[in-house]
Amino acid sequence: MEEKRLGLKKTAALARRYWPTMVRMLPKLYVERFNRRVLLGFPRIITVFATERCNMRCPMCLVWQSREHFGEADETIGLASMRAVIDEAARWGTGFYFTGGEPLMNRELPQVIAHAASRRLVTGMTTNGLLLERRAGELVDAGLTFLSVSVDAREEAHDANRGLKGAYAGVLSGIARVRECMRERNSPFPVIKLNSTFLPQNLDDLDFLVELAGELRVDELTFQHFSFVDDACREAQARYAQRMPFGKLFQGMDVGERCFSPEQVEKIVAFMERAPELGRRHGVRVGFGPTTNDVRAYYEPGFPSRESFCSLPWSEASIRANGDIEMCHGHVIGNIAQGSVREAWMSEPAQAFRAYAGRHPNAPPCYRCCALKYVFPSRRKA
Ligand SMILES: C[S@@+](CC[C@H](N)C(=O)[O-])C[C@H]1O[C@@H](n2cnc3c(N)ncnc32)[C@H](O)[C@@H]1O
Ligand code: SF4
Ligand code: SF4
Repeated sequence: MEEKRLGLKKTAALARRYWPTMVRMLPKLYVERFNRRVLLGFPRIITVFATERCNMRCPMCLVWQSREHFGEADETIGLASMRAVIDEAARWGTGFYFTGGEPLMNRELPQVIAHAASRRLVTGMTTNGLLLERRAGELVDAGLTFLSVSVDAREEAHDANRGLKGAYAGVLSGIARVRECMRERNSPFPVIKLNSTFLPQNLDDLDFLVELAGELRVDELTFQHFSFVDDACREAQARYAQRMPFGKLFQGMDVGERCFSPEQVEKIVAFMERAPELGRRHGVRVGFGPTTNDVRAYYEPGFPSRESFCSLPWSEASIRANGDIEMCHGHVIGNIAQGSVREAWMSEPAQAFRAYAGRHPNAPPCYRCCALKYVFPSRRKA
């Protein structure tokens, strides 16, 4: 399946570069059964918020809520603080995913990526593309494995949504420059992906985005379901925040009663049905996330059922730009300046959160989180 997705050459290059990491991590996996989930002895993936800052102002963005949570904090995480984390992670074969804010606003990011690459760890990053042309060479030299570039719509609508004329042009010139640098250095990396989010503003541009991905010859195009919170959910989240000691950083834009009209939801459903064939025609694999058994129910108000499933508290952690080690909801379990990730990961607050999350797969903060595998009560089959 991976071969089909990436092509034989890239899969072979990935295997050549990372086989020592895979072999090293096998005997180190500490596994504990926990409510059907498997607790790993160290996060399998660490998401690093390279900075909380951003050079764009997208109205749909979750980062605004983070900024509310973090204030106007200017921290950007650098090599000095990340070196020990990467060295610790190297023993476990952990992958690092860099996001933000806009990760390319972090000047030291290529050095951090290069250090991870020197330990043969997989790295990925999502960017809005604005600084990509300027920083492409550094990223390719650093050995970034996966690059995801966000694109919302055709040029005019993309720029309007991103609040910046030239944002779309930056995506195109950035990807072109990355390709050029890969050719110059004879590098198969990074694997390049376009990432889009279903928005009220782009529902007439979805086919166009598949054509664009084909023209740009990217390795994959993914669509994210819009992450949102409605009035009823926000009230439930407020009650949760008062009752539970597990953080208050909830994902999802406030949309009032609903985010899409029923007609708009039908557009999304119809697109998802024709996307595989459209993708084949344009030579690009099209993926969707998060998974759900019922797209219509996802966009309706209402909580998913308890059969929904999330393994993140048992397998992934985040590091914020101020060094906080977090589980989801902004539940801080340590700081990289004060202790190891392993200590935080196995700490009592982390275990308490897992115990709660295992019992409540449909807790208010999980409402439309991108990590949940959604099962809605209406239809149980995909
Ligand atoms: C938060 S951004 C951070 C990285 C970078 N600044 C960028 O825009 O690519 C990561 C991804 O989340 C997407 N995104 C923003 N708001 C969203 C929402 N409400 N629901 C789903 N995805 C969203 C963005 O379009 C982007 O692809
Ligand atoms: S560029 Fe990315 S982080 Fe910045 S506002 Fe837009 S979606 Fe959010
Ligand atoms: S679905 Fe819930 S438990 Fe999983 S990452 Fe999201 S908020 Fe956390």
